[in-house]
Amino acid sequence: SNPSLLILAGDGIGPEVMSQVRRIIDWYGENRSLAFDVSEDLVGGAAYDVHGVPLTDETMEKAQSVDAVLLGAVGGPKYDDLDFSVKPERGLLRLRKEMDLFSNLRPAQCFDALADFSSLKRDVVAGLDIVIVRELTSGIYFGEPRGIIQEGNERVGINTQRYTESEIERVARSAFELARRRGNKVCSMEKANVMESGILWREVVQKVHDEDYADVELSHMYADAGAMQLCRWPKQFDVIVTDNLFGDLLSDAAAMLTGSLGMLPSASLGAPMANGRPKALYEPVHGSAPDIAGQGKANPIACILSFAMALRYSFDQGDEASRLENAVEAVLADGARTADLLGEEGVTPVTTAEMGDRILA
Ligand code: NAI
Ligand code: MG
Repeated sequence: SNPSLLILAGDGIGPEVMSQVRRIIDWYGENRSLAFDVSEDLVGGAAYDVHGVPLTDETMEKAQSVDAVLLGAVGGPKYDDLDFSVKPERGLLRLRKEMDLFSNLRPAQCFDALADFSSLKRDVVAGLDIVIVRELTSGIYFGEPRGIIQEGNERVGINTQRYTESEIERVARSAFELARRRGNKVCSMEKANVMESGILWREVVQKVHDEDYADVELSHMYADAGAMQLCRWPKQFDVIVTDNLFGDLLSDAAAMLTGSLGMLPSASLGAPMANGRPKALYEPVHGSAPDIAGQGKANPIACILSFAMALRYSFDQGDEASRLENAVEAVLADGARTADLLGEEGVTPVTTAEMGDRILA
């Protein structure tokens, strides 16, 4: 049977960028005999409008049963005053939590045509293609004890960095598996010089490597030095694996090596399902962009590249993923620019649908 895909387009520009992805999915079915069983459903404000909740139990069940979920974006001013429990973002949080998506993949990929968009020198970023794997469900954002307590005559803010061996092991495995499909190189980042959780992190990553992934090249780096190396010469990396906090910082910094928010895809992976594929949610990094929603201005590339990640990491279609990425690269090299990518004067931006047309062509 065909691989299954659940599309949750969401709010704002979500449905606009997703409709271009939908055309590309259909193209694969018609031209590459790569058909998907696609179902579509509501998430975020769109779900709240119909059901009064940002994600129904039925949609949650569907998400658990498909091979991959593709999400657009959620949120918007219309929903800003809603009660916290039914805010659009809660739909996305519920998906991530119940699917237990502990491994967040954030690529930083720099297409040659956009290298001048970077704040770094062209030769430092042109052709850059790295992925940061961030642990997403544990660490200091979740550790107990936490809180603001009174201590004597002043208050103390407390958070706890806490990682179990199994939490480190599963995200390490996910990084090594990823590296095998790419440049076969992993750099693990922590602060083993000053943090016990860092010492354990380094030990466990090394052990998983030695036992099961000795074919992958592994190095370790302190996260602060890693931040410096990311800015100095990012092309030295292939896959970087790190914890929730360091990954939050490093992935945002790395993303901006390469330019616009409209270009950045992501994947969140969980444990392998019965068919061996990881549970997976693919989504652009950007939000619902209410300022440009409904105007045909949105750049669909982040969402399209998220589907390319799905092809590669959920469906073992690395060649077809490259085909799609090459099409994006060619269209950019040819000068097509949505409004967010405009630098040069005198260039007329293409619309969301025109960008889709050119990539399909
Ligand atoms: P945003 O990412 O929606 O927009 C930030 C800026 O980037 C805006 O000027 C927007 O026009 C531009 N932009 C974003 N994506 C673009 C694209 N594909 N093409 C062209 N320009 C693009 O972030 P913002 O404005 O902070 O949040 C807007 C709403 O989105 C809020 O309700 C927020 O909660 C939600 N949000 C949802 C996320 C998600 O669904 N994963 C992530 C971030 C924000
Ligand atoms: Mg962040």
